[in-house]
Order: sequence, then structure tokens, then C-alpha cells
Amino acid sequence: MNKTVLITGATSGLGYDYVKLFANDGYNLILVARNKEKMQQIKETYSHLNVTVIQKDLSIGGAAKEVYEEIKQQGAHIDVLVNNAGFGLMGEFDKLDLQEQVNMIQLNVTALTELTHYFLPMMKERNSGRILNVASTAAFQPGPLMAVYYATKAYVLSFSEALVEELSGSAVTISTLCPGATKTNFGSVASVEGTKMFSRAMESDLVAKEGYAGLMSGKRVIITGSVNKLGALTAKFLPRSIVAKVAKYVAGEK
Ligand SMILES: NC(=O)c1ccc[n+]([C@@H]2O[C@H](COP(=O)([O-])OP(=O)(O)OC[C@H]3O[C@@H](n4cnc5c(N)ncnc54)[C@H](OP(=O)(O)O)[C@@H]3O)[C@@H](O)[C@H]2O)c1
Repeated sequence: MNKTVLITGATSGLGYDYVKLFANDGYNLILVARNKEKMQQIKETYSHLNVTVIQKDLSIGGAAKEVYEEIKQQGAHIDVLVNNAGFGLMGEFDKLDLQEQVNMIQLNVTALTELTHYFLPMMKERNSGRILNVASTAAFQPGPLMAVYYATKAYVLSFSEALVEELSGSAVTISTLCPGATKTNFGSVASVEGTKMFSRAMESDLVAKEGYAGLMSGKRVIITGSVNKLGALTAKFLPRSIVAKVAKYVAGEK
């Protein structure tokens, strides 16, 4: 029987790259995002696979539970969960819309936590399963001008690494993907395309492939690209006040 992967944010960027990688390996797909038309197109493209489309806005409270209920009703097993949906916003914290920032926390943090909570027990019961939580290199330092976004990604990394320890001795794996700037729709949604940090953005398919390999080998934290690996390492050893200044500098215009 084919394995099944649930991918949130499957309609563009990294999520869509994951759709292609998993489909290539014969996985049945459960797609979750808002853009139903795009998900229907994916379903048609992979008509040889079992593709389920769940149109859901995960920034709305209770949406993750509805996803879980729908899958439970279908009696589907989830072998791999890819918590990928997320977005960022650039600007001074107090000037950005509060509700949009709360929605970001709901999507990047709460929905990811809830989906992990719903699907982890069945993986533990079968002693098999993999979870990929998409964080960012933003997880390694405070991010002036993207304060809430960086904080959400720090949460994702901390939460996921804690679960790795809880799961030691189990065959269930949790991996955290930490990409740096990557060419997807993220840049235009977050309004960061013209910034220094985006001047050397990586190709999204390369980032997804590195993440896929890390996930399949059960790697704990996957930082994509050698410059990003070096940046994350440097951030560990410098005072937080200095790395915050660097983060503010790279968030500025090119
Ligand atoms: N690109 C980068 O530079 C970068 C760097 C580090 C980390 N990341 C992380 O990578 C992940 C994927 O982002 P991306 O770069 O691939 O960006 P993207 O191209 O904008 O894709 C974001 C995906 O999330 C979905 N999504 C957004 N809001 C949603 C909502 N409210 N409910 C359900 N789905 C929603 C979108 O689908 P719909 O619009 O159809 O809902 C889309 O499929 C995010 O967690 C992001 O923080 C990105």
C-alpha cells in the first residue's frame, strides 16, 4: 500500500516542491491550503495517486481540528506530516496590523502545534512516521522589523527539538527545516524581496530537496545552504544584541 503524506501550504513554493518530491516517490497526497483551484490542478496532474484536497485557512482558530476530523472520517493513515504553511510580514511591530500578526502566529505556530498533536499519537502507536516542521534561519536570532515572524520560527525550532527528545527510543522522527531566503512567493507576501537578506535567495527546489533528504534520514535540524549554516553557527556564539543588529541590517534595502 502506498504511504500518505499531508502537506500544508501545498499550493506554492516549498510546499509545492514537496508535493512533487513525494509524488515522485509514489506517496498519496493530502493537500491543505486556501487555493482550491491550484490543489485541483495538482490532483489532476497526479491522477495515478490518491490525492485529497482540503481547502482550509489555517490562520482561523479550529481549522487544524477540522482538517484532522476530515482525515479521521476518511480513515486515512498519515505516514508523513509536512507542516509547511506559513508567512512573514516586514515592518515595525507597532505599525504592522495587529490582526495580521495574530493570524501569523495562528498559522506558523498554533496550527503547526495542533496538527502535530493530532497526528503524532497515531504515528507513536504504529511506531512509524515522520514529521517535517518548517522553521527558518530566522529561528536562530531575534528579527527586528520581522519581530513576530522570527519569534514564530524560534518557537517551531524549540518545540520540534523538544519533541525529538520526547521521542528518543521511538521510530517516529521529527525534523526541522531551517531555510534562509528562498525564491518562492514568500518574498512578495512578506515584502522582503528588495532587502539585503533576499539578494542571495536560494532556488526553492534545491531547498526542498535538501529538506527531503534530511527528513528521510531522520535528521534533527536541516539548515539549507552553506552560507546559512555558517550564519546559524555564528549566531550561536555572538551576543544576542549583536545578532539582532545584524538581522536589522540585512532586513534593510539592498
Ligand atoms: N521563502 C523563504 O525565503 C523562506 C525562508 C525560510 C522559511 N520559509 C518558510 O517556508 C514555508 C513555506 O513558505 P514558502 O517560502 O514556500 O512561501 P509561499 O510560496 O508563499 O507558500 C506558502 C504556502 O502556505 C500556504 N498558506 C499561506 N497562508 C495560509 C493559510 N492561512 N492557510 C493555509 N495555507 C496557507 C499558501 O497557500 P494558499 O495561498 O493557497 O493558502 C502556500 O501554499 C513557510 O513556513 C515559510 O515561513 C520560507
